[in-house]
Amino acid sequence: MKTKILVTGGAGYIGSHTCIALHEAGYDIVVYDNLSNSNREAINRVSILIGQPIEFIEGDIRDTELLREVFALHKFFGVIHFAGLKAVGESVSKPLLYYNNNVSGTITLLEVMAEYSVKNIVFSSSATVYGDPESLPIDERSKRSCTNPYGQSKLAVEHILEDLAASDDSWNLIALRYFNPVGAHPSGQIGEDPNDIPNNLMPYISQVAVDKLEKLSIFGNDYSTVDGTGVRDFIHVTDLAQGHVAAFDYLEKQSRLNESGTTQQYSVGFLPINLGTGKGTSVLELVCAFSDVSGQAIPYQFTDRRAGDIASCYASVDKAKMLLGWQAELSITDMCQDTWRWQSMYPNGYDVS
Ligand code: NAD
Ligand code: UFG
Repeated sequence: MKTKILVTGGAGYIGSHTCIALHEAGYDIVVYDNLSNSNREAINRVSILIGQPIEFIEGDIRDTELLREVFALHKFFGVIHFAGLKAVGESVSKPLLYYNNNVSGTITLLEVMAEYSVKNIVFSSSATVYGDPESLPIDERSKRSCTNPYGQSKLAVEHILEDLAASDDSWNLIALRYFNPVGAHPSGQIGEDPNDIPNNLMPYISQVAVDKLEKLSIFGNDYSTVDGTGVRDFIHVTDLAQGHVAAFDYLEKQSRLNESGTTQQYSVGFLPINLGTGKGTSVLELVCAFSDVSGQAIPYQFTDRRAGDIASCYASVDKAKMLLGWQAELSITDMCQDTWRWQSMYPNGYDVS
């Protein structure tokens, strides 16, 4: 029988790509999403891409009763927990919404998992938990600190997972700390579809490229980086999706070893792992790469630094390679090509009305 995974937030940007990767790797999936930041059309497109309907439940992770029904109906091996709100600026103006959704929601989910003895979870954490890093590349033992409610909510959940692991070694809890996910599925059928004017760099660039936005503002050109603009570790969303498959393969292997009794009982505990490429790319470098790939001019202007931004951020990727046998494969050119395909095929994202 196939291993079944509940994917919370599976209709979203990273979740939808991960559903395809999980299906291709032979996992059975059930998606649970309240569609607060996604579109049912993403689920339809994923179903078409994988050639079979996705089992989809419209629901909120704060809804204990509905979660109980879902866990009673399905025998899950574990959960991939993408569901959460992610806009840093909005989190500053609506902190209670962010703590309620991201922290209380996760507690509710964990409580129901415990009730049904489902104790394997892969949580979407973020490089934001490292704050302004003391040294580069950033490894998983680096100090954690956050300056905004969104980041605090990710850090709070990490602490909860750590405490849970310490209290009971039957939990296996992996926190994947994503660096900067960009790109789209190579088919061009699914991708990132921001609700409003994008906050993040890649969707902003691609909307300038299709003339939805006039020009990019580059926030600061006086950082001590290669060209004065910020440096980030951009990672293709399909590589990121494979990282989730690798994390679940790891959890499954561990559980098989324990069941076979050939090793001493081993608990994964709380395991934080970076998912990045290990390479930094500057804002200007990304703009040039996108312009080359798309053949479109990307008009830009330099403006002041954005409050809260750091100069440089890129991952140490050794732990993911060593433990999960995973590493990112795709280049900045691939990331730009796939973003451009999605953006030019669907300039209005999933809104095809
Ligand atoms: P997304 O907004 O596209 O996907 C999140 C999904 O969760 C959406 O489909 C949304 O409808 C759903 N959701 C939100 N609150 C929910 C709730 N209470 N109940 C049920 N569903 C709910 O975001 P994404 O970019 O795919 O990010 C996925 C996860 O990864 C998030 O937790 C995010 O914080 C984290 N993350 C994202 C990035 C990034 O740059 N995209 C970086 C680091 C971490
Ligand atoms: N930038 C611009 N102009 C824009 C948008 C961004 O110059 O219009 C610059 C930023 O100043 C930064 C770089 O592009 O130097 C990347 O900015 P993003 O907003 O795309 O990404 P961040 O690194 O600020 O943050 C993202 C997510 C966070 C997540 C973090 C680490 O938004 O939620 O990556 O994973 F925590």
